[in-house]
Amino acid sequence: MNVALGVGGGIAAYKAAELARALMERGFTVDVVMTRAAEEFIRPLTFAALTGRKVHTQLFSAASADDTLSSAIDHMRIAQEHELMVVAPATADLIAKFANGLADDLLTTTYLAFTGIVVVAPAMNTSMWNHPATQANMAKLRERGHVIVEPGEGLLACGVIGPGRLAEPEVIAEAVLAASRAKQPRQDLEGETILLTAGPTQEPIDGVRYISNRSSGKMGYAIAEEAAARGARVVLISGPVNLAPPKGVTMVAVRTALEMRQAVMDHLNEATIVIKAAAVADYHVANAPAQKVKKTAARLSLDLEPTPDILAEVGSKKGDRLVIGFAAETGDLVAEARRKLEQKNCDMIVGNVVSQPGAGEPATGFESDDNAVVLVTRSGETIPVERASKRAIAARILDEALRVRLALHASH
Ligand code: CTP
Repeated sequence: MNVALGVGGGIAAYKAAELARALMERGFTVDVVMTRAAEEFIRPLTFAALTGRKVHTQLFSAASADDTLSSAIDHMRIAQEHELMVVAPATADLIAKFANGLADDLLTTTYLAFTGIVVVAPAMNTSMWNHPATQANMAKLRERGHVIVEPGEGLLACGVIGPGRLAEPEVIAEAVLAASRAKQPRQDLEGETILLTAGPTQEPIDGVRYISNRSSGKMGYAIAEEAAARGARVVLISGPVNLAPPKGVTMVAVRTALEMRQAVMDHLNEATIVIKAAAVADYHVANAPAQKVKKTAARLSLDLEPTPDILAEVGSKKGDRLVIGFAAETGDLVAEARRKLEQKNCDMIVGNVVSQPGAGEPATGFESDDNAVVLVTRSGETIPVERASKRAIAARILDEALRVRLALHASH
């Protein structure tokens, strides 16, 4: 796991070097982000030598205009590429900025852009630590769910004895390890190979035109991400979409229904679970010309022929696999989902209401980030899943799929 180590400007900054080493010993890759004040106490070179990685120091550090752009988006990149951020020593000033969302340097902007786990190890003089302002700020960080590694008591650099001393690097490193483990999703799909299709297909009409649909691929990609995070090996067969390939997933890019069918059949043997989230075109143009068709005054009809039903074919070769299909409907969702379940020999159908945004009601289905579905299972259940993010829906689909499999095995 990649950890961003934020170093604030305090006497304890030198201990951050020991912390970097302790984190690396626990298998973390450590990227250091220092404040200007931290550089007064310890040189970036120390961290660069220890971690073997570039040390990030300034929000605007560029010599050329191009560099300005790259350093100006550094905080976004650091925020995105790390799952955990530990700040040690966290000074009173940094804690105040974090608590109130101030962002005037690389570390504080990175913090604001960061959505992962945050571990804060404060260090400061006892009076500053006890000040109601600092305590109020700490309360905000605790409320936000950050992990706080409490400062110890002892003789501080200022000669005072009391709380404010940075916790020992080993203690902070253990807290980081515990926080990273707590975040790991359960690995209940370990050993599974999930063959997943997503996105639309494009069926050429001629050399430049095609028939397609509004599928964005977001639901399928969310399932791929969730399944991979839970330990599955995922083969994602994707039609053309504008989405980044999910991490840790084997991608197979296809365009047409025929290509998708071929890719699915090529990988079917490896699969223990097949999920067909793709919106496959039901028809394609028979013998589409390779050239662009020229305009004439005459009417033009397209001669459409059905594409192979991939899900039905998978259903017919099902074996021990769990097969899950989708049904995008504008009409009677549950009845249609159940009909498709039977017809295509599936274990579960995810029924998707494709709606247009109404008054005060955002759309679900194709392009939206949210979805609301009904799960119809082979064991006869109809499970409505309320509107939620596609990732949350993905998690629920996988939970129910595993449950359906257990139920089916038990009944045999
Ligand atoms: N599907 C498929 N191959 C096709 C068409 C559909 O594998 N040629 C799969 C989809 O991936 C989805 C399920 O079948 O998992 C249902 O797709 P949908 O378009 O809702 O249903 P159709 O069977 O095409 O029926 P209809 O168009 O009548 O609703």
